[in-house]
Amino acid sequence: MKLGRLNHIGVATPSIADSITHYRDTLGATHITEPFDLPEQGVKVCFVDTPTDSGMNGTQIELIEPLGEQSSIRNFLEKNPLGGQHHVCFEVPDIAEARADFEAKGKRILGPTRIGAHGTPVFFVHPKDMMGQLTEIMETPKEDAH
Ligand code: CO
Repeated sequence: MKLGRLNHIGVATPSIADSITHYRDTLGATHITEPFDLPEQGVKVCFVDTPTDSGMNGTQIELIEPLGEQSSIRNFLEKNPLGGQHHVCFEVPDIAEARADFEAKGKRILGPTRIGAHGTPVFFVHPKDMMGQLTEIMETPKEDAH
């Protein structure tokens, strides 16, 4: 396991539209992607870019709204009706190597490795094995396609 950069923080919301207004008007965000559906994960997502000294390629906020009745984040929103921080996502250079390493360390991985919102493979590690933090592990995109 080789820890890479903090790619994004996942934030659940009952309304992506309301959250976009909040990030734009309260926090002054200027780069927010169009929301899109990830049906196999039961979510609609969009990304809020945060700037770095060299441009807009900083850590993102991933806004996540439930999509469909089976959505994985409905339970979270029942406990947290306003929404809130849901997961953190770290990049790794090699997703298969990272998965094997977490498994060797006895960490519970939630489901198969799948293609995430950035089009690269991801998996999630159970919060009970991660000091309380639901953790997404994502393979670093080969070229930064923002
Ligand atoms: Co995520």
